[in-house]
Amino acid sequence: MRGCGAPWRNSSAGWLEGHRPSHLGYSNPQRLRLLWVKLLQTYAVNPPARTSYTAPVATPFTSVTSALPPTFTSPEFRAALGMFATGVTIVTARSPDGGLIGLTANSFNSVSMNPPLVLWSLARSAGSMPALSTGSHYAINILAADQKTLAERFAMKGTERWSGVEFIEGAGGAPLLRGAAATFECFNRSRYEEGDHVIFVGEVERCTHRTEASPLLFHGGKFYTEHAL
Ligand SMILES: Cc1cc2nc3c(=O)[nH]c(=O)nc-3n(C[C@H](O)[C@H](O)[C@H](O)COP(=O)(O)O)c2cc1C
Repeated sequence: MRGCGAPWRNSSAGWLEGHRPSHLGYSNPQRLRLLWVKLLQTYAVNPPARTSYTAPVATPFTSVTSALPPTFTSPEFRAALGMFATGVTIVTARSPDGGLIGLTANSFNSVSMNPPLVLWSLARSAGSMPALSTGSHYAINILAADQKTLAERFAMKGTERWSGVEFIEGAGGAPLLRGAAATFECFNRSRYEEGDHVIFVGEVERCTHRTEASPLLFHGGKFYTEHAL
């Protein structure tokens, strides 16, 4: 069969001549054509898997060891944070001499279901830091909407915060505020110093809630009550 057919086929076969193993019969151009057709048919039915896309080499994150300086002012940061609406709590405890400790905090959040963990953060400069960082227990009282005045009072310095406040004793003596929407009695599990605050992680020993209570809300420096959408 050598030499028959169109010249380009012959020349094509000639080009292949030195590159194919003769024991497979590839020296016969017609046979070679049939093999090509078979090969194309096979791939038409079973195309080879597409090779996955390889992204261009990315920024080497691992070599970045510190943040860039902020591109915003403190008021801008505060205003942006203020867009995150939160509930409001009063964190309570007893000082070593049995005194009542309490301050308004909205940095509260849940951490873990098992074990039951919550967190909140306290300014390093807070007057209640010595008692809260060394005591074994504290309570987090989630305020109801009608406790706005308590939220304001427990955020102010130089006031008699506990005057007329009704409470019962919780774990470790931490006061549980009457009328709170929920309470979490916490073992003072761990603390993490970060920037100008200390993050407290509490292990919840007991909790209560009032299903009918409407929680007090806070954002952008103002208090709100909830409205269902
Ligand atoms: C709505 C609201 C939320 C607050 N959240 C926190 C907070 O999460 N952490 C904190 O350290 N201070 C917070 N503060 C400020 C403290 O309540 C305030 O500085 C208080 O005087 C601290 O009391 P102390 O110095 O007796 O510890 C908050 C104040 C308000 C009004």
